[in-house]
Amino acid sequence: MLTERAAALDAADPLAHVRSRFLLPEGVVYLDGNSLGALPAAVPAVVEDAVHRQWGTDLIRSWNANGWWEAPARTGDAVGRLIGAAPGQVVAGDSTSVQLFNTLLAAARLRPGRRLLLTDPDHFPTDQYIADSVGRLLGLDVRRVPAREAAAVLAAEGADVAVAAYAPVDYRTGELYDMAALTAAAHAAGALAHWDLCHAAGALPVELDAIGADFAVGCGYKYLSGGPGAPAFAYVAARHQDGFDQPLTGWHGHAAPFAMSGTYAPGPGVARARIGTPALLSLLALEAALTAFDGVDMAEVRRKSLSLTGFFQECADSLLDSLGFTPATPRDPARRGSQAALRHPEAYPLVAALTARGVIGDMRAPDLLRFGFNALYVTHADVLRAVEELRDIAVSGAHRAPEFRERPTVT
Ligand SMILES: Cc1ncc(COP(=O)(O)O)c(C=O)c1O
Repeated sequence: MLTERAAALDAADPLAHVRSRFLLPEGVVYLDGNSLGALPAAVPAVVEDAVHRQWGTDLIRSWNANGWWEAPARTGDAVGRLIGAAPGQVVAGDSTSVQLFNTLLAAARLRPGRRLLLTDPDHFPTDQYIADSVGRLLGLDVRRVPAREAAAVLAAEGADVAVAAYAPVDYRTGELYDMAALTAAAHAAGALAHWDLCHAAGALPVELDAIGADFAVGCGYKYLSGGPGAPAFAYVAARHQDGFDQPLTGWHGHAAPFAMSGTYAPGPGVARARIGTPALLSLLALEAALTAFDGVDMAEVRRKSLSLTGFFQECADSLLDSLGFTPATPRDPARRGSQAALRHPEAYPLVAALTARGVIGDMRAPDLLRFGFNALYVTHADVLRAVEELRDIAVSGAHRAPEFRERPTVT
């Protein structure tokens, strides 16, 4: 029954052909694209060319001849197409943590006199650490308010809030929040909305311009599949660019970088959000990876993603019942990102045993099994196989074998 359903859903999948744009290992079910996206088929040749021809032969001339200088803006615009940002508002480069620091500090500088910075107590750790650091630097109080309560706090105390810094998707449970509503609540209070799109960019439609978002950041290595440590991106809404007081005043953001002036003068538009020399090989890999989205409609990605996560929940309901699993992801599609999580006291050994069988997900302490569904390459048959293997492991106790006890550094 579930086998037939999976086959029928895959047969009717309008994105089925996109899977061939990725080089997936034979026999592996990859449900960790929310951590490190799979390798897009376009990437190896581009990296090879970047290394041998551009670096090896063209050498320093590549900055002009091969468009290296423009790569952060070019790649930023390519990301912008996936997150509803018109050209000229996104730059790619550096890490999410760096871009977070930069844009959050710059956002807070745009609201002087306000003493609060709101962020989520369940936000990814780096976001909380950086919010605290920005708070210390600017003398702001960082108040941790859960996303679902933030609008109420903004309505009550919003006059004190400089920036509300949130993520549309909870990185552990996959719960999806209403970006438009929270952005509107921040604006109604005169505050700015800052978004971390790590688990949203490339995973679901994001409409930064349409909802009036102020700042956003995100990483290149999850649903954008840009590779390990791929450059991040920063969105600075056009209306804030003239006032964007760049905290990390690196020379690439200067108005005339090659004038070699000893005094900083910010560049025009989003160029002032650039920092220093980007990691070009990684940036070119990310740019190539983004071609996997060519001709792909994000509304279609969303439909398939919901079908995959919904089918996962359906399979889990019928195959994992009374095996100690508790669903952690909302059933309501409107409240679900592109991942599904289950709680189980033996989460780590279960995930390790699954991985040993070629079904790759991950775990987040203390008890969460996390499965990410990249609609560009995951199939409903993958989903069913993952749940069937999980059932087999839980029923047989295969995860209690000694090799699954030891936790490596990265879980
Ligand atoms: C929401 C969120 N923000 C930030 C990061 C990571 O930041 P960085 O790319 O600097 O390691 C992650 C990584 O998983 C994340 O999930």
